[in-house]
Amino acid sequence: MSGKPVCIGDFEEYAKTFLPKSVYDYYRSGADDQESLAENVAAFSRWKLYPRVLRDVSEMDVSTSVLGQRVSVPVCVAATAMQRMAHPDGETATARACRAVGTGMMLSSWATSSIEEVAAAAPGGLLWLQLYVYKEREVAESLVRRAERAGYSGIFVTADTPYLGRRLADVRNKFQLPPNLRLKNFPGSDLAFSSGRDFGENSGLAAYVAETIDPSLNWEDIKWLRGLTSLPIVVKGILRADDAKEALKIGVNGILVSNHGARQLDGVPATIDVLPEIVEAVQGKVEVFLDGGVRKGTDVLKALALGARAVFIGRPLLWGLAYQGEEGAKEVLQMLKEEFRLAMALTGCRRVEEISRTLIRRHQVLSSKI
Ligand SMILES: Cc1cc2nc3c(=O)[nH]c(=O)nc-3n(C[C@H](O)[C@H](O)[C@H](O)COP(=O)(O)O)c2cc1C
Repeated sequence: MSGKPVCIGDFEEYAKTFLPKSVYDYYRSGADDQESLAENVAAFSRWKLYPRVLRDVSEMDVSTSVLGQRVSVPVCVAATAMQRMAHPDGETATARACRAVGTGMMLSSWATSSIEEVAAAAPGGLLWLQLYVYKEREVAESLVRRAERAGYSGIFVTADTPYLGRRLADVRNKFQLPPNLRLKNFPGSDLAFSSGRDFGENSGLAAYVAETIDPSLNWEDIKWLRGLTSLPIVVKGILRADDAKEALKIGVNGILVSNHGARQLDGVPATIDVLPEIVEAVQGKVEVFLDGGVRKGTDVLKALALGARAVFIGRPLLWGLAYQGEEGAKEVLQMLKEEFRLAMALTGCRRVEEISRTLIRRHQVLSSKI
């Protein structure tokens, strides 16, 4: 890349040359043949925008609220594990960047900074905790309690990871954390995923998940979580209307339509393609969010036009961190905010509430060659 990044792809190009291969591979990869990875991005292009014109867009407001909290733009940061591999400040830089831009950050259970460190790095910032449910329930309970004490505003419980998806690059690289890092939310060494252990011919992380994460997780456990905390709960990783309805019965506060950045089950549809049926099933009872493949302002607009309250970004933030830590993360968020503002203006929307379903239609792709 020559000169300053002008799109999210530029940040990735920089990260690709700058990061050690095994780190870049871990961040970038999807599962198996990575069909869904490409699909998450490509599917946005099949949805076409039908702009309204002559709407006086000289005054704009792109802010909204997420789970009752004000955000300056409907683009928040999804949980991505082990951010200190991208930059020495890792998750603390992300939290500061989010606060500076006025949006929220979902901290991974597998962060290389602790729940408390991240809260202390950005006092007053909007934070949520992404929760992995461990075989030992006390581990999950203690993460929730710590988030409550540290002032987090909600829990995103990940539903799509009873086992880790097969990410071939990580298997080939026998992916592990670099020796100077550990998962900081776990005081002991058992759950810290520190390097140096022999995980055999596998991704170290896949072995860690098989050892520690509870594959028996089911709806009863979401009920348990509901009873455990009064914080808002969002189920992360829903791709079906019936699952969304099941979550509603339990009284969760939100649904995050996600295929885990295509890192779990390959062959699933793009999230933007399943969003409409989930929005329909939820009928406005709770907020619906989307992540997966969001790379530009028009993607954000399309997701909102299809009924998402806000979107979350995973990889783009990591590329920003790799580029320039807190500054780089801020640039990524700021870029998406400006692109979103332009997309709104060019579709004739002055406020987020004016973004409607009439702005978007899915075009059939007809193959011209047989
Ligand atoms: C490197 C990486 C690490 C991730 N770690 C987690 C995690 O710890 N917990 C989780 O629920 N999701 C995790 N995810 C999934 C993201 O939260 C999110 O669903 C996904 O990245 C969105 O897709 P995108 O990267 O195309 O924006 C991770 C994704 C990536 C790329």
